[in-house]
Amino acid sequence: MAPVDPHSFTDSTHPFATHISLSLYFNFPSSTIHSSALLTLPNPHSGPISLDARSLAISSVLDPQTLTPLPFSLSPNPDPIKGQNLTITLSNQSSFLITFSTSPSSSALQWLSPPQTFNKTLPFVYTQCHSIHARSVFPCQDTPAARICYSARLNLPRQLSAVMSAAHIDRRPPILGEGLSSCDEALWCAEDRVVEEFAMEQPIPPYLFAFAVGEINYREVGPRTRVYAESVPAVLDAAAKEFAGTEEMIRQGERLFGPYEWGRFDLMVLPPSFPYGGMENPRMVFLTPTVIRGDASGAQVVAHELAHSWTGNLITNKTNEDFWLNEGFTTYAERRIVEVVQGEDRAALNIGIGWRGLNEDMERFHDNMEFTKLKTRQEGVDPDDIYSHVPYEKGFQFLWRIERQICRPAFDEFLKKYIATFKFQSIDTEMFLDFLKANVPGIEKEIDLDVWIHGTGIPPDALEPVSTIYTKIVSLATEFKLGRMPREDEVAEWRGQEWELYLENLPKGIESSQVAALDARYRLSECKDWEVKVAFLQLAISSGCREYFVEVEKTLKEVGRRRYLRLLYTALAQATGNDEAKILAKRVFMEARECYHPIAQGVVETILSKHL
Ligand code: BES
Ligand code: ZN
Repeated sequence: MAPVDPHSFTDSTHPFATHISLSLYFNFPSSTIHSSALLTLPNPHSGPISLDARSLAISSVLDPQTLTPLPFSLSPNPDPIKGQNLTITLSNQSSFLITFSTSPSSSALQWLSPPQTFNKTLPFVYTQCHSIHARSVFPCQDTPAARICYSARLNLPRQLSAVMSAAHIDRRPPILGEGLSSCDEALWCAEDRVVEEFAMEQPIPPYLFAFAVGEINYREVGPRTRVYAESVPAVLDAAAKEFAGTEEMIRQGERLFGPYEWGRFDLMVLPPSFPYGGMENPRMVFLTPTVIRGDASGAQVVAHELAHSWTGNLITNKTNEDFWLNEGFTTYAERRIVEVVQGEDRAALNIGIGWRGLNEDMERFHDNMEFTKLKTRQEGVDPDDIYSHVPYEKGFQFLWRIERQICRPAFDEFLKKYIATFKFQSIDTEMFLDFLKANVPGIEKEIDLDVWIHGTGIPPDALEPVSTIYTKIVSLATEFKLGRMPREDEVAEWRGQEWELYLENLPKGIESSQVAALDARYRLSECKDWEVKVAFLQLAISSGCREYFVEVEKTLKEVGRRRYLRLLYTALAQATGNDEAKILAKRVFMEARECYHPIAQGVVETILSKHL
C-alpha cells in the first residue's frame, strides 16, 4: 500500500482513472440516487485498484464488455474520516462498471423536501463535495492528486431541471438501455422522467464534481454568464442585478492571470442552507443567497470563486496538506481583482478583515499549533474540523510578502508563468518552492521561506495593512471601550464591510449595556448584511445580552452557512456562566438540524460536543 493522500485510500502503485461516465436516477421519495459509474483507466490493468466510498451501497462491479462480475470488497468498518476502501480486482480490463446507490446520509448531498424550498411545491437536491465528500456520491479516487474528466446522465422527474459543473449537452426523454444498470429499465424510461446530459472534458479533481436539481431557472448577466436559482422571479432578478459586473471581473482576471480556460462562468444561487459562501465548481460556481444584499457586495465572493478558475481549478493542491496553494493564492488573486473593480480602499479593507480573522484563528489553534502552519500534517485529521482563515490569510500574507520583495510587475509576471507552467496539474508546496527559487533567484536569502511554510504563528515580516479608512475604523473600535460611540457623520459612508471590521475589532469584555446602546443607535441586529448581523449577534452573546436570543434563534434557523453557524453556536456554547445560552444552543440545533447540510450538521455537532 503506497498512499498518496492521508484522506484517501488511493494507492500510487495503481493506475489513476482518467474518465468517469455516470448514470444517476434521482429517487426523491427515498432521498437516494440509483447509479452506475463506468471508470476508464489509461491502460488495461491486472490486480487490485482501491477507490474511496462513503455511505454507498455497492450492488455489483462488472466488466463492461462481457458484463461478467469482477471481484470486489468493501472494507467492513468505515474509517470515520476516509470512509470505506472499495477494492476491485481487475484482469486486464481498462474499464469497469460499478452499480450502486447513495444513501440519505451521503455527506455531500442535501435533499430538501418541497416545504424546505422557496416555492414549496417541488423537491431540491445539491452536492458539496469539497474537500472529501465526492466519495459519498460515487466511488472514485477521491484525492485532488487525481484528475478526471466525466460525463453524466441525470434522470429526473420532468418538472425538474439540473445544472452541473460541466457543459450542458442535452435535455431529452430517457432512452432504453442508457441507464447502464443503475436502475430498472421501466423506472428509467417512465413517462414522467427526463434525462439531462452533461460533459466535463477538462480534467478536474473529484472535489469539483457538482450538481443541483430542482425547479431551477436563470437570467442572462453577461456574454459567458447566467445566474441560476430556484425559479423565483424576485430572487433571480436580485441575483442578476447583484452580479451584473461579473464579465468585467472575468476580463480583469484574464488580464492578470491569463486566459479563462473553462468556457462559461455561470453562477448558481443555492437555497439558504448552502454551507459555504461560495464554491468554485468549474463553469458553475455555487453561492449562498446571503451574498445577495442589494449593494453589489456579493462581488467579493464572486471574485474569490472566479479567482479559483486559475488557482485551485487549473493548478490544484495535491492533497489537503497543501490547501494554502488553493486558498492563499486565490485570496491574493481575489484581492487583485477587487482592487481593480472596486478600488484600493476596498481591497485594503478586505486585507484588514482578513488580518483580524488570521489573528483570531491563531488564538483558536493556540493548543494545536500544527494548524497555524501553511504546510500541515493531516494524518488522522478531518479537513472539515480544521477549516480556518490560516491557509487563506497566512497564504495571502506570504504571497504579498514576495510581491513586496520583488515588486508588483515582476510578481505579476511570475504568477502568469506559474499558472501557465502548472495548469491542469496537481502540485505540492515543495514544487511551488522549487519553482519560486528557480524563477526568483536568491529569494531564499531575502525571505525566510522555511519560517513561512513550516513555522507556526504569524511570521514577523507579515504586514497589517495600512490605509486611512482601515486605521480610522480600528482606532474607533478601540475607543469604544472608553465609552465613545462612532458619530453619525463618521459612519455615514460605511457599508457592510466597514461595520464588519469595526465590530470584529471591538475589545473583548464590553458591557451588555454598551452593546445594546450601539444597536439602539445603528440597528445592527437587523442589518440586511449577514456578516454584520452575525458579527453583532456574536458580540451580543459573548457580552451576555439575553434580549438578542430571539434574533439569534431566528438567524440560526434561517441560514445554514457553516461560518455563521460556527460563530454563533460557539459563542452560545462558550458563554461562561450562562446556562440559558447553552440550553438555547442545544434546543435550536435539535429543531434546526434537519434544515442544515450534513457538513454543517457535523460542524455544529463538533462544537456542541466540545463545549457542552
Ligand atoms: N472552496 C472554498 C470553500 C470550501 C473550502 C469548501 C474547503 C469546502 C472545504 C471556497 O472557495 C471558499 O473559500 N469560500 C469562502 C468564500 C470567501 C473566502 C469569499 C467561504 O465560503 O466563506
Ligand atoms: Zn476559496
